[in-house]
Amino acid sequence: MQKSEKVQQGVEAVRNALPAGFAPETGIILGTGMGALSAGLQEAVSIPYADIPAYPRSTVKSHAGRFVCGSWRGRRLVAQDGRCHLYEGYSPEEIVRGVRIMASLGVKTLLLTNAAGSLNPLFPTGSLMAITDQINFTGSSPLTGVADKPGQNRFADMSGPYDENLLRLAQKCALNMHLRLEQGVYLGLAGPQLESRAETRMFRAWGADAVGMSTVLEVIAARSLGLRVLAFSVLTNQNLPDRMAPVSLDEILEQTGQSAQSLRLLLDGVLAEMP
Ligand code: HPA
Repeated sequence: MQKSEKVQQGVEAVRNALPAGFAPETGIILGTGMGALSAGLQEAVSIPYADIPAYPRSTVKSHAGRFVCGSWRGRRLVAQDGRCHLYEGYSPEEIVRGVRIMASLGVKTLLLTNAAGSLNPLFPTGSLMAITDQINFTGSSPLTGVADKPGQNRFADMSGPYDENLLRLAQKCALNMHLRLEQGVYLGLAGPQLESRAETRMFRAWGADAVGMSTVLEVIAARSLGLRVLAFSVLTNQNLPDRMAPVSLDEILEQTGQSAQSLRLLLDGVLAEMP
């Protein structure tokens, strides 16, 4: 099956499950341990990835595997509840297929969430960070082998992938909520091993504020399709090279759970006011 056929099959599977006339305008990708955010959707329709031909399934226990469509704050939304990662053995094309499906369904704005390690000594564990820019250190691209065609730019411009207006809106919402929202650069790598001290020191010197194993490929795919992008990291642990402590997935999940409520309120505010 061709790559574009797989996207098309995904589009049809989701569209067939939706009520007639429901066209999602905003997409959201829910990161590690954030599936509960989809509980905010009203009149939700759930489409398990298992019902979509050849759709990749997450092998991580903290990721569900489904699209959920519904309304949130009056906005028609499609949520990707559970994502796939390079470290599971999936290809960049499989990782971003959900983004391509959402774009084909008519989505114009993509919100992303993830769990990440803080590299910035001023961003403590539990902080929320709006991503202002990214470093793709995965060694791969979802645009490899992709042709330039109408609506899709192979040489995607990455000079400003995260939408300035949405970033300003997120800061305004956070301020209204008395919530501290950090801003910084996210570095995405393949994983799954966590970083060594020397790597951590290098990433910080490169200007990264947070490090994680997702998001950057999805954002590249979204930008190549012209979507507006806004993304948030929950900083579940702090990695400082001179006092590195081991981190476990359980600790990451527990910290995500603790910050999920603030993130949900922030998304609520952004969705309510987004132009
Ligand atoms: N490194 C990479 N990915 C992560 C981390 C980390 O420290 N924390 C949560 N996801």
